[in-house]
Amino acid sequence: MKIKTFLAQGTQKGIENDIVVVVDVLRATSNVVTMFDRGATRVLLYENEEEARSQKLYYPNMAIAGERNCEKIKGFEMGNSPSETLSAKIKGREVALTTTNGTKAMIQACESETVLVGSIINMTAVCEEIARLVRQTGKDIAMLCSGVDGNPVIDDLYAAGAIINKSIMTGKIRGFDLDDASRVAKMVHGGFSRPLDALLASESGRNLTALGFSSDIALCAKQDLMNFVPKVKKDDHSYYVVCDDKQEA
Ligand code: MLT
Repeated sequence: MKIKTFLAQGTQKGIENDIVVVVDVLRATSNVVTMFDRGATRVLLYENEEEARSQKLYYPNMAIAGERNCEKIKGFEMGNSPSETLSAKIKGREVALTTTNGTKAMIQACESETVLVGSIINMTAVCEEIARLVRQTGKDIAMLCSGVDGNPVIDDLYAAGAIINKSIMTGKIRGFDLDDASRVAKMVHGGFSRPLDALLASESGRNLTALGFSSDIALCAKQDLMNFVPKVKKDDHSYYVVCDDKQEA
């Protein structure tokens, strides 16, 4: 059995039969996890800003969220900021989300029917879910990093490496062959003593710091703040995220 890592969205190949973990630590997958923590019922994913915006016409109660160049899209109720999501009024509501890279990665991951939303804030829960699925299905694992504009970024590689290292070191999975990209991700993880240092060193972290989103970086670096794993699904009309294992607070 194998663990493969894809360094940026658009580079994945042959993931149809894999357990896929999508990571966009800064900030899309961390924000999706936070949305479920705040009680969202479903997160619909859109590549296109207008598609997301138009959902409001059909579903007036839906919250419309998204960013371009990390800033909230004009007229949207929410941006892509997990620290703002913490106080957003989304309990019991669906959210339509469009982001520059992360929503694309989540949509592309649906080449497989088993897609987990990974981040640092739900890392241990992701490792446990991977182990459960491996025991149940015997499938290979694919880590799909979102990256930025098709290029690798340290925050996603760090999280992919952390998930691989934690899964192996705790004996949650055994006997897997790692491809070179997975080994690189493990090395990136080993190169930082704290998640926050990795996030601050990344291109995404530097951009977000310059734009005044330091509180998001601090939040996205908090390991195991949440203990559930949203999953990406598709039907004939849409790509969406659900979270069946989230216990109501
Ligand atoms: C993205 O999808 O490109 C990111 O999540 C950007 C952001 O930090 O908002």
